[in-house]
Amino acid sequence: MQIRAYRPQHDFRALLDAQCDLYQLNFPRFICTPVFLADQAQRLRVAGRRPLENGIFILDDNGAMAGFVWVAVRMDLQGAYGSVDQVYLKPQYRRQGLGSLLMQAAEDFVRRQGLKIARLYVTQENHDAVRLYERSGYAVTRYEMERPL
Ligand SMILES: CC(C)(COP(=O)(O)OP(=O)(O)OC[C@H]1O[C@@H](n2cnc3c(N)ncnc32)[C@H](O)[C@@H]1OP(=O)(O)O)[C@@H](O)C(=O)NCCC(=O)NCCS
Repeated sequence: MQIRAYRPQHDFRALLDAQCDLYQLNFPRFICTPVFLADQAQRLRVAGRRPLENGIFILDDNGAMAGFVWVAVRMDLQGAYGSVDQVYLKPQYRRQGLGSLLMQAAEDFVRRQGLKIARLYVTQENHDAVRLYERSGYAVTRYEMERPL
């Protein structure tokens, strides 16, 4: 098992195949459509061409993708930061401590870009993800709130 950089020609399909699962787990009303997948494919192609702005790292299990992390350099009113946009382990690789390896790879990338803050969004009910992020040192700084109408 090793963490390595994303290789578009080798990994594109495996990352795209994970997108429906990733979003379905985090957004209860999400429906995975061909349009969504086409958009994600386009985002991924662009990201693959911009490795300084996009750190994508693969957890490689003897040539098979066990999981990946995708962190992007972004800017907002508070300055530049690393946005951990996607963290994913295939189901059989979860709950073994491998999520922490992905988080470390993402944070190493953010540091290498000279940035001091990593930020992410997570669905409150995604307990495994919330626990991973808390263990990794993330704390709540803003709430997104909603109510049914
Ligand atoms: C989010 C996700 C990456 C978290 O992965 P994970 O496997 O739960 O997290 P870790 O790899 O850090 O594993 C930690 C758990 O494994 C357990 N574990 C078992 N063996 C372990 C070991 N050798 N070392 C460390 N932890 C181990 C830990 O006790 C911990 O369980 P706990 O949270 O109940 O205390 C994973 O659930 C996932 O891919 N989910 C689907 C995609 C997703 O929702 N991504 C987040 C989007 S915001």
